[in-house]
Amino acid sequence: MSTTRNVAVLVGSLRKESFNRKLARAMIALAPESLKLEIVEIGAMPHYNQDYETDLPQSYVDFRKRIADSAAVLFVSPEYNRSIPGVLKNAIDVGSRPSGKSVWNGKPAAIVTVSPGVLGGFGANHHLRQSIVPLNMPTLQTPEAYIGKAADLFDDKGELTAVSTREFVQKFLLAFARWIERNAAN
Ligand code: FNR
Repeated sequence: MSTTRNVAVLVGSLRKESFNRKLARAMIALAPESLKLEIVEIGAMPHYNQDYETDLPQSYVDFRKRIADSAAVLFVSPEYNRSIPGVLKNAIDVGSRPSGKSVWNGKPAAIVTVSPGVLGGFGANHHLRQSIVPLNMPTLQTPEAYIGKAADLFDDKGELTAVSTREFVQKFLLAFARWIERNAAN
Protein backbone atom coordinates (compact mmCIF):
# COMPACT_ATOMS: atom_id res chain seq x y z
CA MET A 1 0.00 0.00 0.00
CA SER A 2 1.40 3.42 -0.89
CA THR A 3 1.82 6.28 1.59
CA THR A 4 -0.56 9.22 1.42
CA ARG A 5 1.34 12.29 0.26
CA ASN A 6 0.37 15.78 1.38
CA VAL A 7 0.46 18.15 -1.56
CA ALA A 8 0.47 21.93 -1.05
CA VAL A 9 -1.61 23.61 -3.73
CA LEU A 10 -0.64 27.21 -4.52
CA VAL A 11 -3.22 29.18 -6.47
CA GLY A 12 -1.89 32.23 -8.29
CA SER A 13 -5.17 34.17 -8.30
CA LEU A 14 -6.85 35.98 -5.41
CA ARG A 15 -10.05 36.62 -7.36
CA LYS A 16 -13.24 35.31 -5.74
CA GLU A 17 -14.53 33.73 -8.93
CA SER A 18 -11.09 32.60 -10.05
CA PHE A 19 -11.07 29.88 -12.69
CA ASN A 20 -7.76 28.71 -11.27
CA ARG A 21 -9.23 28.28 -7.81
CA LYS A 22 -12.19 26.39 -9.28
CA LEU A 23 -9.81 24.13 -11.14
CA ALA A 24 -7.72 23.64 -7.98
CA ARG A 25 -10.87 22.65 -6.08
CA ALA A 26 -11.79 20.20 -8.81
CA MET A 27 -8.30 18.71 -8.61
CA ILE A 28 -8.66 18.28 -4.85
CA ALA A 29 -11.89 16.34 -5.45
CA LEU A 30 -10.51 14.25 -8.31
CA ALA A 31 -7.17 13.33 -6.72
CA PRO A 32 -6.32 9.66 -6.23
CA GLU A 33 -6.38 8.32 -2.67
CA SER A 34 -2.60 8.44 -2.47
CA LEU A 35 -2.63 12.26 -2.69
CA LYS A 36 -4.08 14.69 -0.17
CA LEU A 37 -4.24 18.08 -1.84
CA GLU A 38 -4.75 21.23 0.20
CA ILE A 39 -4.70 24.88 -0.83
CA VAL A 40 -2.09 26.93 1.04
CA GLU A 41 -3.16 30.58 0.96
CA ILE A 42 -0.58 33.08 -0.25
CA GLY A 43 -2.51 36.35 -0.45
CA ALA A 44 -1.76 37.77 3.00
CA MET A 45 2.02 37.67 2.91
CA PRO A 46 3.72 41.07 2.60
CA HIS A 47 6.01 41.68 -0.37
CA TYR A 48 9.26 39.92 0.29
CA ASN A 49 11.86 42.13 1.94
CA GLN A 50 15.19 40.67 3.05
CA ASP A 51 15.16 42.99 6.06
CA TYR A 52 12.32 40.86 7.45
CA GLU A 53 14.71 37.94 7.97
CA THR A 54 15.71 39.44 11.35
CA ASP A 55 12.08 39.97 12.39
CA LEU A 56 9.93 37.54 10.44
CA PRO A 57 6.26 38.24 9.73
CA GLN A 58 4.18 35.39 11.22
CA SER A 59 2.69 34.80 7.78
CA TYR A 60 6.16 33.93 6.44
CA VAL A 61 6.81 31.55 9.33
CA ASP A 62 3.46 29.81 8.83
CA PHE A 63 3.86 29.57 5.07
CA ARG A 64 7.36 28.15 5.24
CA LYS A 65 6.19 25.54 7.72
CA ARG A 66 3.22 24.52 5.55
CA ILE A 67 5.51 23.97 2.58
CA ALA A 68 8.21 22.24 4.64
CA ASP A 69 5.57 19.83 5.97
CA SER A 70 4.30 18.98 2.47
CA ALA A 71 5.67 16.19 0.33
CA ALA A 72 5.08 18.00 -2.95
CA VAL A 73 3.77 21.21 -4.48
CA LEU A 74 1.12 21.80 -7.13
CA PHE A 75 1.05 25.25 -8.75
CA VAL A 76 -2.25 26.31 -10.34
CA SER A 77 -1.86 29.72 -11.87
CA PRO A 78 -3.24 32.25 -14.29
CA GLU A 79 -1.03 34.06 -16.76
CA TYR A 80 -0.53 37.77 -16.19
CA ASN A 81 1.25 39.50 -19.05
CA ARG A 82 2.90 36.28 -20.18
CA SER A 83 4.23 35.53 -16.69
CA ILE A 84 2.88 34.48 -13.31
CA PRO A 85 1.03 36.92 -11.03
CA GLY A 86 3.21 38.79 -8.53
CA VAL A 87 1.46 37.17 -5.59
CA LEU A 88 2.66 33.74 -6.65
CA LYS A 89 6.20 34.95 -7.35
CA ASN A 90 6.18 36.53 -3.89
CA ALA A 91 5.27 33.21 -2.30
CA ILE A 92 8.06 31.49 -4.20
CA ASP A 93 10.54 34.14 -3.06
CA VAL A 94 9.39 33.91 0.58
CA GLY A 95 9.83 30.13 0.59
CA SER A 96 13.25 30.32 -1.01
CA ARG A 97 14.93 32.30 1.77
CA PRO A 98 17.08 32.52 3.84
CA SER A 99 19.76 31.24 1.52
CA GLY A 100 20.48 27.57 2.13
CA LYS A 101 17.18 27.05 3.96
CA SER A 102 14.74 27.07 1.06
CA VAL A 103 11.63 25.05 1.85
CA TRP A 104 11.30 24.18 -1.83
CA ASN A 105 14.48 22.15 -1.98
CA GLY A 106 13.84 18.69 -3.40
CA LYS A 107 10.03 18.97 -3.39
CA PRO A 108 8.45 17.35 -6.45
CA ALA A 109 6.27 19.85 -8.29
CA ALA A 110 3.67 20.07 -11.02
CA ILE A 111 2.31 23.08 -12.87
CA VAL A 112 -1.16 23.77 -14.22
CA THR A 113 -2.06 27.04 -15.90
CA VAL A 114 -5.62 28.11 -16.58
CA SER A 115 -6.82 30.93 -18.83
CA PRO A 116 -9.98 32.01 -20.60
CA GLY A 117 -7.73 32.41 -23.65
CA VAL A 118 -6.89 29.63 -26.08
CA LEU A 119 -3.20 29.34 -25.12
CA GLY A 120 -4.05 28.14 -21.61
CA GLY A 121 -1.38 30.25 -19.93
CA PHE A 122 1.49 28.63 -21.80
CA GLY A 123 3.78 31.63 -21.17
CA ALA A 124 3.18 31.63 -17.42
CA ASN A 125 3.62 27.87 -17.23
CA HIS A 126 7.09 28.10 -18.71
CA HIS A 127 8.06 31.28 -16.87
CA LEU A 128 7.28 29.49 -13.65
CA ARG A 129 9.44 26.56 -14.70
CA GLN A 130 12.34 28.98 -15.11
CA SER A 131 11.93 30.32 -11.56
CA ILE A 132 11.85 26.93 -9.90
CA VAL A 133 14.89 25.44 -11.63
CA PRO A 134 17.33 26.99 -9.09
CA LEU A 135 15.05 25.85 -6.26
CA ASN A 136 15.80 22.23 -7.11
CA MET A 137 12.19 21.16 -7.53
CA PRO A 138 11.92 18.08 -9.75
CA THR A 139 9.03 19.18 -11.96
CA LEU A 140 6.63 16.95 -13.86
CA GLN A 141 7.23 17.39 -17.59
CA THR A 142 4.32 15.53 -19.17
CA PRO A 143 1.41 15.62 -19.38
CA GLU A 144 1.69 19.38 -19.82
CA ALA A 145 -1.33 21.23 -18.44
CA TYR A 146 -2.40 24.37 -20.31
CA ILE A 147 -6.11 24.66 -19.59
CA GLY A 148 -7.65 27.11 -22.07
CA LYS A 149 -11.17 28.46 -22.68
CA ALA A 150 -11.74 28.30 -18.94
CA ALA A 151 -15.02 30.18 -19.11
CA ASP A 152 -16.56 27.14 -20.84
CA LEU A 153 -15.47 24.52 -18.31
CA PHE A 154 -17.47 25.26 -15.14
CA ASP A 155 -21.14 25.50 -14.24
CA ASP A 156 -22.64 28.40 -12.30
CA LYS A 157 -21.77 26.70 -9.00
CA GLY A 158 -18.11 26.56 -10.00
CA GLU A 159 -18.07 22.80 -10.62
CA LEU A 160 -15.82 21.49 -13.34
CA THR A 161 -18.36 20.05 -15.76
CA ALA A 162 -16.30 19.65 -18.94
CA VAL A 163 -15.88 15.89 -19.22
CA SER A 164 -12.68 15.94 -21.24
CA THR A 165 -11.04 18.32 -18.74
CA ARG A 166 -12.14 16.14 -15.82
CA GLU A 167 -10.59 13.12 -17.53
CA PHE A 168 -7.43 15.05 -18.31
CA VAL A 169 -7.12 16.26 -14.71
CA GLN A 170 -7.44 12.69 -13.42
CA LYS A 171 -4.77 11.50 -15.82
CA PHE A 172 -2.54 14.41 -14.83
CA LEU A 173 -2.94 13.68 -11.11
CA LEU A 174 -2.10 10.00 -11.57
CA ALA A 175 1.07 11.00 -13.41
CA PHE A 176 1.88 13.45 -10.62
CA ALA A 177 1.32 10.76 -7.98
CA ARG A 178 3.81 8.49 -9.77
CA TRP A 179 6.21 11.39 -10.12
CA ILE A 180 6.04 12.12 -6.40
CA GLU A 181 6.73 8.47 -5.53
CA ARG A 182 9.76 8.51 -7.81
CA ASN A 183 11.14 11.80 -6.46
CA ALA A 184 9.94 12.09 -2.85
CA ALA A 185 12.59 12.78 -0.24
CA ASN A 186 11.36 9.88 1.91
C1 FNR B 1 -4.60 38.86 -17.62
N1 FNR B 1 -5.08 37.82 -18.44
C2 FNR B 1 -4.21 37.16 -19.28
N2 FNR B 1 -4.57 35.98 -19.89
C3 FNR B 1 -3.70 35.30 -20.66
O1 FNR B 1 -4.03 34.24 -21.19
N3 FNR B 1 -2.44 35.80 -20.89
C4 FNR B 1 -2.00 36.95 -20.32
O2 FNR B 1 -0.85 37.32 -20.52
C5 FNR B 1 -2.91 37.67 -19.49
N4 FNR B 1 -2.52 38.84 -18.87
C6 FNR B 1 -3.31 39.36 -17.85
C7 FNR B 1 -2.81 40.38 -17.05
C8 FNR B 1 -3.57 40.84 -15.98
C9 FNR B 1 -3.00 41.90 -15.08
C10 FNR B 1 -4.87 40.34 -15.75
C11 FNR B 1 -5.70 40.83 -14.58
C12 FNR B 1 -5.36 39.35 -16.55
C13 FNR B 1 -6.47 37.37 -18.30
C14 FNR B 1 -6.57 36.27 -17.27
O3 FNR B 1 -6.25 35.03 -17.87
C15 FNR B 1 -7.99 36.20 -16.69
O4 FNR B 1 -8.27 37.41 -16.03
C16 FNR B 1 -8.18 35.00 -15.79
O5 FNR B 1 -9.55 34.86 -15.49
C17 FNR B 1 -7.34 35.12 -14.53
O6 FNR B 1 -7.38 33.91 -13.80
P1 FNR B 1 -8.44 33.66 -12.63
O7 FNR B 1 -8.44 34.87 -11.74
O8 FNR B 1 -9.78 33.46 -13.30
O9 FNR B 1 -7.96 32.43 -11.96
